[in-house]
Amino acid sequence: MSLEAATAAPRLLVTGAHGQVGWHLQRALAPLGEVEALGRGDLDLADLGAVSSVLSDLRPDIVVNAAAYTGVDKAESEPELARVINADAPAAMAKECAVTGALLVHYSSDYVYDGSKSAPYDESDATGPLSVYGTTKLGGDEAIVASGCAHIILRTTWVYDIRGKNFLRTVLRLAREKDELRMVGDQFGAPTWARSIAEATALVLARALQRRSAGGAWPIGLFHLTAAGQTSWAGFAQAILEDYEDILDWPAETSEFGGELKARRVVEITTAQYKTAARRPRNSVLSNARIQAAFGIVMPEWRDQLRLALQDAIR
Ligand SMILES: NC(=O)c1ccc[n+]([C@@H]2O[C@H](COP(=O)([O-])OP(=O)(O)OC[C@H]3O[C@@H](n4cnc5c(N)ncnc54)[C@H](OP(=O)(O)O)[C@@H]3O)[C@@H](O)[C@H]2O)c1
Repeated sequence: MSLEAATAAPRLLVTGAHGQVGWHLQRALAPLGEVEALGRGDLDLADLGAVSSVLSDLRPDIVVNAAAYTGVDKAESEPELARVINADAPAAMAKECAVTGALLVHYSSDYVYDGSKSAPYDESDATGPLSVYGTTKLGGDEAIVASGCAHIILRTTWVYDIRGKNFLRTVLRLAREKDELRMVGDQFGAPTWARSIAEATALVLARALQRRSAGGAWPIGLFHLTAAGQTSWAGFAQAILEDYEDILDWPAETSEFGGELKARRVVEITTAQYKTAARRPRNSVLSNARIQAAFGIVMPEWRDQLRLALQDAIR
């Protein structure tokens, strides 16, 4: 191997550049090599031919697929499109990576489980999606594994950020409009800040690159990656209201992140009282034991992450 080849910076391709996780990946992965981040305008995952040709043209060492069809309820009426983006496009990426030897990093979802387990899920538990979204995400995971490419699948839950479409921003918008919020109290999970997912991904990849440059193979596997602890949607909403108040002084001119909230309290309702197109698992709590053992990653408690995320909105 020439000196140039030995010292060339790894090339990383990120999809879903404008999504919650993709936004932070562009920043967190920067110290690892040359990062090319593509949004939907650069690469539409519904165009499977484009997926293959972009990968074969760019020849990245690592592909991080943070793009997905994430409209859980909308997917019930658009199953075909959800399947193409969540299952067929990752399958096309995996096929290409199997040819080039690139590592494929992909994100999966708690919605691949049926939620009937009474303890945190681990990676060997049976899947059983309740929704089209969950079924298509599972399809992506299975296609990647079947392709034989080097892959790391990171399965996460309840992702939020101060940008994008998510529960945190919905709660803050509603809390300006209403006196009290009614939120589901009988679904449990770990709200996970998009930035912590991106930073943990960077740590995993730093290890993987180290192993690779020492002549070893890429590490391969499925790993749960969520915040530690658990709460319900109602508990998450209550924490958002409390921490928002604590972290004040917000500059009043900012949109969600400024000024007084009207709502101070959250009333718990049941899943049965809140009708949605897609069914959701009752238990979305995942164990992080495997990623901790494999990569030494210790994910922070969800409440600590929430405070840091809110502080990120202070200008
Ligand atoms: N959000 C959650 O609660 C959650 C929970 C568990 C797992 N996950 C998984 O975590 C990963 C990251 O999710 P996220 O929360 O960052 O999602 P997100 O904020 O909804 O971002 C998804 C991105 O995918 C892009 N996208 C959608 N359709 C596309 C297409 N046809 N071609 C190219 N790009 C397309 C979107 O582009 P536009 O900006 O143009 O729409 C968006 O930027 C996904 O695999 C998701 O399934 C998410």
